[in-house]
Amino acid sequence: MTLPKKVRLVEVGPRDGLQNEKHPVSTATKLALIGRLIDCGLTTIEATAFVSPKWVPQMADAAQVMAGLAPREGASFPVLVPNEKGLEAALAAGASEVAVFAAASETFSQKNINCSIKESLERFKPVINKAKEANVKVRGYVSCVLGCPYEGEIAPLAVAEVAWALFEMGCHEISLGDTVGFGTPEKTKELIETVARRVPIRKLAGHFHDTYGMAVANVYAALQMGVNVFDTSVGGLGGCPDAKGAPGNVATEDVVWLLKGLGIDCGVDLDRLVDTAAWICGELGRAPASKVAQALLARRG
Ligand code: HMG
Ligand code: MG
Repeated sequence: MTLPKKVRLVEVGPRDGLQNEKHPVSTATKLALIGRLIDCGLTTIEATAFVSPKWVPQMADAAQVMAGLAPREGASFPVLVPNEKGLEAALAAGASEVAVFAAASETFSQKNINCSIKESLERFKPVINKAKEANVKVRGYVSCVLGCPYEGEIAPLAVAEVAWALFEMGCHEISLGDTVGFGTPEKTKELIETVARRVPIRKLAGHFHDTYGMAVANVYAALQMGVNVFDTSVGGLGGCPDAKGAPGNVATEDVVWLLKGLGIDCGVDLDRLVDTAAWICGELGRAPASKVAQALLARRG
């Protein structure tokens, strides 16, 4: 087993972490969070989502977030776009990378973006083409890769099919989303093995939610398969509407701790990251869900 020497973290806290927060989080707080994350050494930060504000009210200030971003050398701020309207708004706001999001579950696709998987892929074609014409990179997400809250088990082959369709259309990277955290390590390995027969492993990213406490184990399983890009969220922000009190995305601190233990470089300052987790969770009125942040904060006294 050879583990990757370097890992790139895609910090999704400002988008995935905050999108389900019930109380409005101010644009100023979102911008302060992004600034602090950059100071921690994170270089790819998913900043916001140009989606319907009726569907996701918390992302309604997407254009203001983009307008307030101070350019930093080496940093990129991808944003989600579900359709051409979203892409146009993202381009007008100066986005240099966007992400489209599909699912491997029909029911989830309907509930999340109000169309079938096939319709979503058709919808993404012009989005990807127009983004490429504008020299804007496109990432592709597949949700429900290790299970669906409505349909239960999802076949790895179904995931591979959607991942390949997005890759063939021009997505530079495919992020595999364990949306509700049903995954376990051996299933994660089986999934990656199956998807990697269609999409090169170096083009895959792991996006694990920690609802059942398996996310770090799944990151380790994916690392063993050769995946070297992971989406993480500071403080484990995110939560799951179906599981009250459950953590959200795998916490960035937990993954940084894992990588440190494995001797893998990811360029992130753990102390600063823990400060940032404590700060943003304080803004939201709770303690960080991350075990590593809790332990390091307790040690500081
Ligand atoms: P729809 O209702 O079918 O869309 O929603 P529509 O085209 O009929 O438009 C309805 C209204 O929304 C119209 O406004 C449009 O103008 C407006 P009205 O005329 O009623 O005033 N609209 C928009 N406004 C702003 N930006 C846009 C946009 N598009 C339409 N881009 C739609 C379809 C896709 C728009 C909607 O379902 C939607 O926005 N869904 C997004 C849901 C979402 O953001 N989910 C979370 C992100 S995915 C995720 O978290 C998973 C991930 O983390 C990976 C994992 O964990 O698995 C990525
Ligand atoms: Mg997610």
